[in-house]
Amino acid sequence: MVFNHMTFSMFRYCKTAARILNNSRKIDKYPVYSLSDFTSAAPNKTRARVLGIETSCDDTGAAVVDSDGNIVGNALHSQTSVSVALGGVLPRYARAIHQQHIKNVVKDALCQANIQVKDLDAIAVTVKPGLAPCLEVGLTHAKRLVEESRVPMIPIHHMEAHALTARMIEQIAFPFLVLLVSGGHCLLSVAKDIDDFLLLGTCLDSSPGEAFDKVARRLKLKNLPQCNGLSGGGMIELLARDGDIEAIPAPNVHSDQNASSFSFAGIKSQYLRYIEEEEIKQGIVASHVISNASDMCASFQYAVLKHLAKRLQRAFIYCDTFELLPEHNKTLVISGGVACNQFLRQGLQKVCDHYNSRLICPPPHLCTDNGIMIAWNGMEKLKAGRGFAEDPLTMRYTPKSPFGTDITAEVAKVSIKLPKLKLL
Ligand code: KG4
Ligand code: ZN
Repeated sequence: MVFNHMTFSMFRYCKTAARILNNSRKIDKYPVYSLSDFTSAAPNKTRARVLGIETSCDDTGAAVVDSDGNIVGNALHSQTSVSVALGGVLPRYARAIHQQHIKNVVKDALCQANIQVKDLDAIAVTVKPGLAPCLEVGLTHAKRLVEESRVPMIPIHHMEAHALTARMIEQIAFPFLVLLVSGGHCLLSVAKDIDDFLLLGTCLDSSPGEAFDKVARRLKLKNLPQCNGLSGGGMIELLARDGDIEAIPAPNVHSDQNASSFSFAGIKSQYLRYIEEEEIKQGIVASHVISNASDMCASFQYAVLKHLAKRLQRAFIYCDTFELLPEHNKTLVISGGVACNQFLRQGLQKVCDHYNSRLICPPPHLCTDNGIMIAWNGMEKLKAGRGFAEDPLTMRYTPKSPFGTDITAEVAKVSIKLPKLKLL
């Protein structure tokens, strides 16, 4: 996917003209692209490049990707170990750390890409959803760069970026099914286009990432040397490898057969209660960890898998019934931090096999928050010629933001019986 030489010169001309015409703070002329601008196979080619900036939670990320999906610069400062030590993300504290690192992280990504800000084709930045004090840091920095360079800004929805990251590494045509499992969300949707999603299911209470983090924290896993530097979810996955998935059976959570949405609060509180009882029984004090922590982690992880699998089964059946996905070449993408979990991936692969769908999960470093996914989402919008900020310097962030068109009530109305599936 490349520009040919003439298109590129015209594009440069439009961009320069837009900048010259622009003597106010508002940038009101952006180049319009057609997909062919990026797909021409002319020999004299050059690629568009987009900078992505991510600060919605506790990762300061910046990356530059080109129109072929190459990552030409990438830098990340993660606060995971700080968040684990503090027992969660403290928004004001996280903001201070973002402020401390944003300049260098962006500089690093640009240096690796060997590009100056003025030569970028767009600056993409997460503006929603996320923690307000954190979103503000990234957006303010992006505005500064835009003001200096007059490069177009593309505001990004963090969860849409998670949903589309896989398209950077694999050919995935719309529509496809996407399950996003992270620290703040659990969303099951049909991706119809880069900015068009049908929401089939969402989280009614705790997100899966929050459940993983709370259980890991209550187990005090951070005190185990092997868990050093891992997220709560990573710690549970590690311990679960030596545990018995059936040792501590899960409650039948949210057993409403028609429900399309997710609920992890029941699973979470059952296991939190169990840990408390077990600590008393085993006389555990201070920073010590219960002796059957591995069984606990394996059983908890299995409970999460069973819940995700049921909702996924329902989504496949619903999509088949209403022909929302292609009959052949169905694809499920799973992304977001919790999708790093190999046990969950393997179990959900069984669901995909049953419904004749391929499963695509980005590699773990692209599932957790990063600048690459934001840059790529910006690139997809640049290619489509839409999604630019009209007035970038007055752009605002939005901590809470809906995802797609909500049809969860319609999915719930259809009585779908689920066949029993073996997940392991
Ligand atoms: O997508 P993400 O990086 O940030 C949000 O947007 O929330 O997701 C972070 C979440 C954390 O709750 C973390 O514990 C979880 O992803 N996570 C995992 C694993 N690695 C990270 N959960 C389960 N298993 C893992 N291996
Ligand atoms: Zn995320």
